[in-house]
Amino acid sequence: MAEQKRFVIRAMEESDYPGIYRLWMTIHGFGIRSIDDSEEGVRRFLARNPGTSVVAVGEDGTVIGAILCGHDGRRGCLYHVCVREDYRRQGVGKAMVVFCMNALRAEKINKVSLIAFTRNDVGNAFWNCIGWTRREDLNYYDFTLNEANITAFNR
Ligand SMILES: CC(C)(COP(=O)(O)OP(=O)(O)OC[C@H]1O[C@@H](n2cnc3c(N)ncnc32)[C@H](O)[C@@H]1OP(=O)(O)O)[C@@H](O)C(=O)NCCC(=O)NCCS
Repeated sequence: MAEQKRFVIRAMEESDYPGIYRLWMTIHGFGIRSIDDSEEGVRRFLARNPGTSVVAVGEDGTVIGAILCGHDGRRGCLYHVCVREDYRRQGVGKAMVVFCMNALRAEKINKVSLIAFTRNDVGNAFWNCIGWTRREDLNYYDFTLNEANITAFNR
């Protein structure tokens, strides 16, 4: 196993955006949305959900992991869970998820969910390994409210 790297987990701040965006662009298969994932979109998300999103900062001071986490008063939701490739399998992902779950619990939220592409083997292995339940009794429905919110997938 690779040498354990040091990292710090803390609440996401608006000023983290450039580092988070740089990280997102390195994650294969990520779909980045032109409006929701813009600096303004993330600022709006953080203003509505203060203190529940998280970053991991690596030894060189850069953002090496991030999760957007919020809730609607009833259910929590995680978006864009990611760790830079050279920091994977060191517990960063799990530590960030635990941060988010504790932040949601502190706000009296009792359940949290997320969406993973079925083809995302690494992501699905991660959620299974850290004890999340894959629902097989549900269909996921959505409806686009703004066609300008274009998704670009990283290769
Ligand atoms: C998924 C992801 C966030 C995991 O981050 P991570 O920091 O490597 O995860 P952790 O080190 O906390 O892993 C916790 C456990 O999950 C499981 N796991 C993580 N990655 C795995 C992999 N590639 N294959 C199999 N199991 C894996 C292991 O059981 C691991 O514990 P172990 O290393 O002691 O065996 C990271 O791989 C990533 O950014 N992937 C690309 C983006 C993505 O797919 N995000 C999820 C979207 S739904």
